[in-house]
Amino acid sequence: MRPRGPRDPGRGRAARLRAAPGRRADRAAGWPVSTGAESTRFRIQRLRYQDLPQVIAIERRAFPAPWSLAMFVLELSKTAGVCLGAWRSEEALAGYCICSRYDTIWHIMNISVDPVLHRRGVATAMLDDLFTRLPDPEAQFTLEVRQSNLPAIALYERYGFLIAGVRKRYYQDNGEDAYIMWRTAATLEGRLDDVPNAGPVQPTPGTVPPPGGRR
Ligand SMILES: CC(C)(COP(=O)(O)OP(=O)(O)OC[C@H]1O[C@@H](n2cnc3c(N)ncnc32)[C@H](O)[C@@H]1OP(=O)(O)O)[C@@H](O)C(=O)NCCC(=O)NCCS
Repeated sequence: MRPRGPRDPGRGRAARLRAAPGRRADRAAGWPVSTGAESTRFRIQRLRYQDLPQVIAIERRAFPAPWSLAMFVLELSKTAGVCLGAWRSEEALAGYCICSRYDTIWHIMNISVDPVLHRRGVATAMLDDLFTRLPDPEAQFTLEVRQSNLPAIALYERYGFLIAGVRKRYYQDNGEDAYIMWRTAATLEGRLDDVPNAGPVQPTPGTVPPPGGRR
């Protein structure tokens, strides 16, 4: 995930709903609702420019140094990219995921979920959709994540991402290091041998260790 801030204008970042508020409204609105005990499906579709006010509203609540509107406009304007939104009703955006392709490698640039809908499968819905849209078994995905962001690291690990490196003081707001994570044919089998520049990762003193004991 790329850091945010004025010094960084362009650098390099459908599922279940447990007992979700508004499920009755979703059902009434005709949205697909799972018959499972505690799950509802979100609708995933490509983000449009007119969705950006809702994106910005979520972004500002999710991050201490949010992306600007211009950064989202830039990402949506790229032809080689996949920008997805998760909707919980016709108008209500629950989250978004921005994925750009640089050369042959996909970068997950930003993923965020409305804080009131955390842990209800919104991010899972978007990543399921993303990897279904990009089914090449040789496709390589990478991202940066704050070392302290355990929820996001856990999410990415569920999708076969492994920590393969560190970018020192990557985040300008607090100088935090980023883990570099990759999802490749090898990482899906628990190895790093096809990951560019993969190396041993030592946790930065004072931060949490890499989850899963991976170095
Ligand atoms: C990270 C984030 C996108 C996850 O979105 P979400 O919709 O809540 O995630 P999901 O409900 O799909 O969770 C999927 C899995 O991720 C992991 N996970 C998500 N939130 C977690 C948390 N708070 N603690 C531990 N694991 C968590 C779990 O493995 C979870 O599966 P489970 O619920 O079956 O245990 C969300 O917390 C968020 O928007 N955070 C703020 C923005 C951010 O940090 N983005 C990532 C930047 S790199």
